[in-house]
Amino acid sequence: MPCVTIADRNRVVEIPAGCSILEALEMAGVNIMHACGGNCICGTCNVEVLAGHEHLPPPAEAERLILKKLKRQGPNVRLTCQAHPVGDVTIQIGL
Ligand code: FES
Repeated sequence: MPCVTIADRNRVVEIPAGCSILEALEMAGVNIMHACGGNCICGTCNVEVLAGHEHLPPPAEAERLILKKLKRQGPNVRLTCQAHPVGDVTIQIGL
């Protein structure tokens, strides 16, 4: 099962296959804004992926459009509600 390390909260959570990073954060008891409830509309659930990019499928078009609108964008920024790790990843919330 993939592990999600939340670097700036000093937490690691193991998640079942198919879970999103947002679900991993909820399992770890780490709060992050997710204003649209995980529907890829608001962009508030964004985080920076520090390691394990190869374990995340590339963003779909809807996620890419939201990321493009964010001020906090970059090649390593992902929406936690849309990113479903298939292996270990390390993220930073940074807020
Ligand atoms: S919760 Fe709104 S885009 Fe992820």
